[in-house]
Amino acid sequence: MEEDMRAVDIITRKRDAKVLFQGEIDWFVRGIVDGRIPDHQTSALLMAMFLNGMDIDETLALTKSMTESGEGLDLPILKPKFDKHSTGGVGDKVSLILAPLVASCSIAVPMLSGRSLGHTGGTLNKLESIPGMRIHLSIEEMEKEVKEIGMVIAGQTERIAPADRKIYHLRDKTGTVESIPLITSSILSKKLSEDIDGLALDVKVGKGAFVKTIDNARLLAESIAEVAKKMGIRIRAFMTSMNVPLGNAVGTGVEVYETLMILEGEEYPSDLMEVTLTLSQAIVDLAGLRGIDLTEKIRDGSALRKFREFVEFQGGDVSYVDAPEKLIEDCTREEIVSNRSAYVVAMDTEKIGKIAVDTESVSRGIIFHKKVGDRAERGNPLATIFWRGDAGRDPDQREDFTHFTGDIKNAILSSYEFGPDPPPTEEMIIERL
Ligand code: URA
Repeated sequence: MEEDMRAVDIITRKRDAKVLFQGEIDWFVRGIVDGRIPDHQTSALLMAMFLNGMDIDETLALTKSMTESGEGLDLPILKPKFDKHSTGGVGDKVSLILAPLVASCSIAVPMLSGRSLGHTGGTLNKLESIPGMRIHLSIEEMEKEVKEIGMVIAGQTERIAPADRKIYHLRDKTGTVESIPLITSSILSKKLSEDIDGLALDVKVGKGAFVKTIDNARLLAESIAEVAKKMGIRIRAFMTSMNVPLGNAVGTGVEVYETLMILEGEEYPSDLMEVTLTLSQAIVDLAGLRGIDLTEKIRDGSALRKFREFVEFQGGDVSYVDAPEKLIEDCTREEIVSNRSAYVVAMDTEKIGKIAVDTESVSRGIIFHKKVGDRAERGNPLATIFWRGDAGRDPDQREDFTHFTGDIKNAILSSYEFGPDPPPTEEMIIERL
């Protein structure tokens, strides 16, 4: 009986590694959202869940409760509705390319996205580099945008999966982030609120990913795929390499710039495009569409036109889409040059991601000219950092800023590892589930 339930009994059962029932989880999650259950009890339950794990039915139960804790989008449209989720990488701008590309194939993409987390840049932070771009939309605005132009990228609102917002905040403070069942329910509660038919999942593995080993990445991918299927969502999951920044640009403005150069057909970074086209194709296949040539949708400008419509709909200045160099034209550029002649054999991708996130307020990011496998001669540019035009302008702070930029340049240089021979080439798509 629900009225007889007590938080302490549920915590104790999980502490003793018992399996919680849907009713208990529902009761607890409702209490988290309505404030009946205090943070210390929620934190205790999260730690018990973290330490003792949860089986797939419990994870499913938690996912359902968290999804139902709020409202969702309602998209009564005829088009198939799909999204993509990545566990987060460095230079990972796949969403920015994939969403308009897939939407240009008459598949609706209602994408709830996030902010920078740890060393990984957030899609929302990147979009904010387009002046005027609104990324906080109401549910009604998101629904209208999907109906009218077939896509939206916006942040989670207070009304969507509120239990996740509360739980995530407490996980961050209690050392309970890295739990497969908790990550599964957190991600899926938001995705299931989008009224989608299916999802392409990109679990990143390697030096620049949160999940460093293939075994753990597989466990996470399997957990998300199994719960998604039980919730009636079609899903394709991939494990992709995150040992090297994806594409050449890392950081907010430069990543949007690189996205636009790709959509304009000016650039084609092969690692980034392999991941983007694999995930986009998975969505097209899941949607059951035949005969779609995704590269043609880029070549003929359809994906770029969709991106422009999306920026316009969300209040962004479309002159930045028409002339992407505006994103970086006011920047002071500083080159980092190679101090030897050798092959790049590795890059400290997590460190690079951290530099990009930590300098977000003063820089628009870093463009890499040499990546793993490339040969650099002494004096060759390895990377260019784009300082914002207004950064370090205050005369009182100029000296400090010069020291700071020097430290950042050294940090980027020291993230490179050189060797006499090229390293073995790495597969980008490590495994498909
Ligand atoms: N992203 C989420 O949304 N939730 C997690 O728990 C981890 C990553």
